[in-house]
Amino acid sequence: MLDFLAPSILRQSRPRHSSTSACSPSDGAQNTSQDSAAGSPKPTYILSKKQRQYLDSALRVNQAGELAATLIYTAQTPQVVRSHPHLRPLMRHMYDQEAGHFSTFNKLIAKHRIHPTAMYPVWEVAATFLGWSTGVMGREAAMACTEAVETEIGSHYNDQVREILSWEADAKSRGEELDDELKEMLATFRRIRDEELEHLDHAVENDAKEAQPYDPLVNVIRLGCRAAIKISERV
Ligand SMILES: [Fe+2]
Ligand SMILES: [Fe+2]
Repeated sequence: MLDFLAPSILRQSRPRHSSTSACSPSDGAQNTSQDSAAGSPKPTYILSKKQRQYLDSALRVNQAGELAATLIYTAQTPQVVRSHPHLRPLMRHMYDQEAGHFSTFNKLIAKHRIHPTAMYPVWEVAATFLGWSTGVMGREAAMACTEAVETEIGSHYNDQVREILSWEADAKSRGEELDDELKEMLATFRRIRDEELEHLDHAVENDAKEAQPYDPLVNVIRLGCRAAIKISERV
């Protein structure tokens, strides 16, 4: 699972997002490249240093979040399906989607030479504990955990989609366009956001709101998610 942490990958320092590779020394300012992608009639929108940093930290947070999601389900599933076998396909389905998300971000951070969060081992323990403890509390608490996590993560992905859309609008106003890789990333973020919101719906359909005590449980998990996002954005 930790293959992507291999130092051989992290030590290399190649240009990152291809739209940034032609960046001038005056980083921080918007620049345009006249070398538009093959087949593309418009010049490519070049990201500023700040935009590149935003993407780096977004990808780092997303990878950490998806790691946590896979571990939560791994810890919850045996306990949930023991008492509610009919939930096995649903738990499997959500886990499989999380595993797909995790793999997507592992590839992206390796490709762009982004360091995983330094908190990686801490999130592993915290997510496993969260999954295990809500699993012990029962089906409703496990579903309330999914509801809380997906509420935060869904809105987090939404913020990222909105940010990249604002870059796209900026590009349009300059007669430029986002490079293909960034367009693909936007589509990926949208798809994953929709899948997270689908998990949220499944959780509510499966009595997340019946968890006891619902409010403190959901609030503490949401607070924890927001804190983990803030921390992973920085380190
Ligand atoms: Fe996910
Ligand atoms: Fe999810």
